[in-house]
Amino acid sequence: MTQLDGKHALVTGGGSGVGLSIVQALTEAGASVTVTGRNQDALDAAAASSPRISAVPCDVTDPAAVDRLFAAVEADHRGADIVVANAGTAESVPFGKLTLPAWNAMIDVNLTGVFLTMQAGLAGMKDKGWGRIVTIASTAGLKGYGYVSAYCAAKHGVVGLTRAVAVEVAGSGITVNAVCPGYTNTPMLDRTIDNIMEKTGRSRDEAARTLLRANPTGRFIEPEEVAQSVLWLCGPHSGSVTGQALSISGGEI
Ligand SMILES: NC(=O)c1ccc[n+]([C@@H]2O[C@H](COP(=O)([O-])OP(=O)(O)OC[C@H]3O[C@@H](n4cnc5c(N)ncnc54)[C@H](OP(=O)(O)O)[C@@H]3O)[C@@H](O)[C@H]2O)c1
Repeated sequence: MTQLDGKHALVTGGGSGVGLSIVQALTEAGASVTVTGRNQDALDAAAASSPRISAVPCDVTDPAAVDRLFAAVEADHRGADIVVANAGTAESVPFGKLTLPAWNAMIDVNLTGVFLTMQAGLAGMKDKGWGRIVTIASTAGLKGYGYVSAYCAAKHGVVGLTRAVAVEVAGSGITVNAVCPGYTNTPMLDRTIDNIMEKTGRSRDEAARTLLRANPTGRFIEPEEVAQSVLWLCGPHSGSVTGQALSISGGEI
């Protein structure tokens, strides 16, 4: 059933993985969508899949680029009713070897990028009296994992930011929620498995099994499962759901 006719959505990191599935789900539900990221080819491919998808490149760690992105969405679509802060990257390194530049890079994209996206998105929603902000955090925003301390810190920060802003804007018609996937079948997961293989000499199957031990259902999450939860949070019947961190992890959390 179409739920989002007439709404405009912005999805950061929408050219691949979870973000691309969210773009597809929102489009199928009737929304028009601006997709953003750094890789122009991936953005062009997403935009080519539907006349309701348009692409605007943006590095979410660059405040001026985020301002230009939201100015373009305001000019072309009268602002975004739905903002999904999905862009993120994960690097793994033992805590003792985590350098300050590597720490800063993880915080920049995974936390500051969400802050910039959320703040600009909310500013554009104020006069609408309706809005949906969804951050894509992680189970790493709810529990600790070894070798990804900076990523875990950033994702815990995203959950805290989401909860705090939800309280601040409650009653305005705008909801702010986090979605927290466990290991999800995307290019990011492929890179994580490659890294385990390289560091440990394990086969692809063994490396995947190591990660699957975390999930009681014994399988990876599919990006479409995350996207359908985001779609529900963006729908007309979710107005009383705000400040939540929704775990999509097969019972891991
Ligand atoms: N896969 C998992 O197991 C998993 C689990 C829990 C949470 N997550 C979260 O889900 C989100 C999506 O990840 P994914 O698994 O779908 O991985 P992915 O396929 O690598 O997607 C990440 C997206 O983020 C974009 N991005 C990265 N840095 C960016 C920047 N500085 N500015 C703008 N866009 C940027 C990338 O596009 P460009 O390279 O074109 O910029 C890409 O489209 C991330 O926040 C991730 O932390 C993933």
